[in-house]
Amino acid sequence: MRPLLLHLDHFGSFREPATVDFSDTEYFALVGPTGAGKSTIIDAICFALYGTVPRWGKENVIAHALAPSAGSGKVALVFESDRRRYGVVRSLVRDAKGTVRTKEARIDELDPAAPLDVAYEMVLKSLAEGEHVTPEVQRVTGLEYKFFTQCVVLPQGRFAEFLHAAPRERQDLLVQLLDADVYELIRQRAARDEEAARSAAAFARDQLAKLAGASDEAERELADGLAALRRLAGTLDTDLDLLRAREADIGRAEQERASVAERQSALAALRMPPAVPTLASARREAADAVAALGAEVATLEADEHEAFEALAALGDRAEPVAALAALDARERLTAQAAAARAAAAEAAASLERLVPKVAEAEHALTEAEHERERLRDAHAAAALTHRLAVGEPCPLCLRPLSELPHHERPADLGAADRALAAARDRAGRGRAALTKAETSASMLAAQATRLDTDLAALPAPGDRIEIEGRLAAIAKAEALATEARTAVRGARGKLERARAAAEQVERQAESAWQTLGSTRDRLLVLAPSDDPPPPLTRDDLHHAWSELLGWRDRAAEAARAALTERERELAQATARLAAERHKLTERLAEHGVTVPRNATPDQLGAAVAGAVARADGALERVREERRRAADLEKVVAEKEHEAKVAHELALRLRANAFERWLCAEALAVLVATASETLMELSDGQYELALGERTGDIEVIDHGEAGLRRSARTLSGGETFQAALSLALALSGAVARGLDSIFLDEGFGTLDPATLDTVATTLERLAAGQERMIGVVTHVPALADRVPARFEVLRDAKGSHVRKVGP
Ligand SMILES: Nc1ncnc2c1ncn2[C@@H]1O[C@H](COP(=O)(O)OP(=O)(O)OP(=O)(O)O)[C@@H](O)[C@H]1O
Ligand SMILES: [Mg+2]
Repeated sequence: MRPLLLHLDHFGSFREPATVDFSDTEYFALVGPTGAGKSTIIDAICFALYGTVPRWGKENVIAHALAPSAGSGKVALVFESDRRRYGVVRSLVRDAKGTVRTKEARIDELDPAAPLDVAYEMVLKSLAEGEHVTPEVQRVTGLEYKFFTQCVVLPQGRFAEFLHAAPRERQDLLVQLLDADVYELIRQRAARDEEAARSAAAFARDQLAKLAGASDEAERELADGLAALRRLAGTLDTDLDLLRAREADIGRAEQERASVAERQSALAALRMPPAVPTLASARREAADAVAALGAEVATLEADEHEAFEALAALGDRAEPVAALAALDARERLTAQAAAARAAAAEAAASLERLVPKVAEAEHALTEAEHERERLRDAHAAAALTHRLAVGEPCPLCLRPLSELPHHERPADLGAADRALAAARDRAGRGRAALTKAETSASMLAAQATRLDTDLAALPAPGDRIEIEGRLAAIAKAEALATEARTAVRGARGKLERARAAAEQVERQAESAWQTLGSTRDRLLVLAPSDDPPPPLTRDDLHHAWSELLGWRDRAAEAARAALTERERELAQATARLAAERHKLTERLAEHGVTVPRNATPDQLGAAVAGAVARADGALERVREERRRAADLEKVVAEKEHEAKVAHELALRLRANAFERWLCAEALAVLVATASETLMELSDGQYELALGERTGDIEVIDHGEAGLRRSARTLSGGETFQAALSLALALSGAVARGLDSIFLDEGFGTLDPATLDTVATTLERLAAGQERMIGVVTHVPALADRVPARFEVLRDAKGSHVRKVGP
């Protein structure tokens, strides 16, 4: 941590804003009178970072940051750590009850390239706020408050804290400084590594145990076996070729036997078709039947021709049939004409009878009309009489009536009307009947006339008996012709059947010839060349078949003998093969190759090739297993070694032993380094050493014959020298990140010679430019030697600070 810019406002004695720029200085002094505010500036740096100040005692007290009169205040610090720039700000406020609380606390990462006067504005990243600011400061600086106040800032009056600290406290501090707590993590890791290495070694040992069979001897045995098998495989082809030749011999013998057997079965199957012996006579009979039937058909056909000639000579039967029909028609017409004439005569007679009756009815009608008129007049006269009066003119004669006429009552007019109606009806009916009779008589007369005309128009009639005789002769001739035709047809059918039967017999004969030909051809192929079947002559089928069967019997006998000979040869070849195969099988068995009883040469070859491949595989497996075993042995050794190392490490780091050892070593180095500085500062009088029993830091007083005593017995000035030596040693030799150190007073306790030595030491340190050095002093002799000075003054407005010097 190296401060660059400090800003304080209403912090402690500073009641006005003040800024201190440390950026271009490596070695500076804060000078000024007592109570001016010098320590306050150092406090402000500490407060900005940790929110507290050593002189306030308790870490969580912030009330002292504000002067009692101040209501609020603020401290801001820009600093560098590990080549990054940070800005930390804390502002305080006093509430109504007078309690001071933090109003704002924050830390940001700032742009390191930005000019310092605008540094706060160039925020790269906000890192923490509020209560998280202090832990974040510890993280980025790597410095805890406690360490900061012992190694970076040596506060006024408390610089001897590390010198006087109890060993335990010093150890805690050094553990932090050295990041020694990492060793506990290392120990835990080592314990885990040990466990992992042990189980890896155990696993590898297990694997190794499983490979126990993969020995040198096993490998040798397998290699020998494989070599022997390869030799066997090298000579195997010759043996297999021999076996194959034997198999070929057997194949040939089997083929020959099969061909003899085939011939034998063909001979045994040879049969004469059953129809052959009777086929010749059957052919003759069929031919005779066809000839006889042919003659019969010819005779019957001549008869038929004759019958039809006779029929034709009788002429067409249509003519006498037509003549007979005409005769029938004339007779019918004659009868009709006679009937018509009779009916016409009857009609004329009935007309004649009707005429007087009609005249009589007409007359009666006239009478009835007269009577009706007479009665009407009589009734009119009688009715008029009633209206006449004497003296009145007569309506008929128009002369005055002298007396009234007397009329008898006339007959009933109604009866006269009915009589008239009846007479009229009779007369009407008489007239109608007369009209009808006249029409009928005229029509019948016309019909009779027409029929007579028709009859006269008919040709002259023939002789019925003669016509009917002709028809009977024709019918008879027709029956005879039909009968002749039926007989011809029957004979023709028989002839056709006889021909079909003859053809059937011919076909049978042809088929028997063909069977004979094909049988002979087949036998010709199967028969030995020196005894072929007899040649074929197509004369006599039965004879040819009989010759072939005779040859068959001789050939069958020869085939039987040949079969016996072939079987004997086959048995010999089979026995030879079996013996040679057995020999080879036994040789294979000697090499551990087992094969089925009747294995073929290919199977034998495959079995040997398989055995070679398996032996090769087995050998390769053993070699692989041996390689794996060697690797596993290496793994076991490595893992056991790792486990041992991890165990040792964990043992060494157990119960903080290593941490303690490390701190003790660091402290020894620290004390030795500080001792050198103290020797220089004390002009060779004092050295520092660790108390062997107590672990306290002691001084070796060379002024007292090198005797040891407690550091607590040193004077104020001597204590400052020893503390300064330790602080410089800590800052320079042990810790990381200690790139600044601030010493608040103590110089007043030194004599001029010692002061000079201290000043020289500090100057040398500052010249290295590795860390910033700040001192707070009243001592002009020291202040004058510091290149950059900040003068702090105090007046009624509080403290002020200004830079003097270069
Ligand atoms: N919280 C505070 N409020 C007001 N004044 C304070 C506060 N703390 C300290 N002071 C006063 O501020 C003044 C400056 O104190 P500081 O310790 O900075 O002085 P100094 O310059 O270091 O003096 P010295 O040389 O004696 O060590 C002193 O008068 C001190 O009493
Ligand atoms: Mg002071």
